[in-house]
Amino acid sequence: MSQDSTIHTATTSLIAPNIPSYPLTSSVPLKLGIMASGNGSNFEAVAQAIATGQLNAQIQVLIYNNPTAKAAVRAANWGVEAVLLNHRDYKSREQFDGQIVEQLRQYDVEWVILAGWMRLLTPVLIDAFADKIINIHPSLLPSFKGINAVEQALAAGVKIVGCTAHLVCLEVDSGPILIQAAVPVLPDDTAETLHARIQVQEHRILPQAIALAALRK
Ligand code: GAR
Repeated sequence: MSQDSTIHTATTSLIAPNIPSYPLTSSVPLKLGIMASGNGSNFEAVAQAIATGQLNAQIQVLIYNNPTAKAAVRAANWGVEAVLLNHRDYKSREQFDGQIVEQLRQYDVEWVILAGWMRLLTPVLIDAFADKIINIHPSLLPSFKGINAVEQALAAGVKIVGCTAHLVCLEVDSGPILIQAAVPVLPDDTAETLHARIQVQEHRILPQAIALAALRK
């Protein structure tokens, strides 16, 4: 076995906990509200997992905060309603989060999925959906919290990175870990190439994390 294929095996198998089969959720579809700031590839992964019957859920609404976010285009393609709430239009983080809560309630959202949401959350949102907010982060938490996690990992010279899906609490990128995937750092990796491989794993574990979180209840 070449070194490359050894690495490949590690890349595709190191997910913990290992989820044997879908669908894991009950017969009642979970009502998701997805929040995204940018590209929305994780939104897409959740939408796909639902469409293929792997995840028993429905996306009630996408909330996005940047007018040019590609996530909104993806939502339109999937026939999902998208609501732009631009944080620049609000006086405080609390006021902004209050508006988000109102929208999520209007759309009868049960679970909130932070899929590349790049704003800090306040207790206004966290308390309104206590233990029902899931975040995906591109590192093996608790390492490399905050922004530019992949760059932080490269700068630290770590050899294994990954991604984490976790329940959200007030401290940023903290809260009970639901599932993690490990990804090896390759010698020629740039932040872009490494992030791209991490994202492949994000797209696998985020739908699984949603199912796992619902099973905890
Ligand atoms: C993802 O890599 C996600 O882990 C990260 O933003 C990216 C969004 O990608 N989130 C964070 O860094 C949050 N701390 P996407 O828009 O293609 O889903």
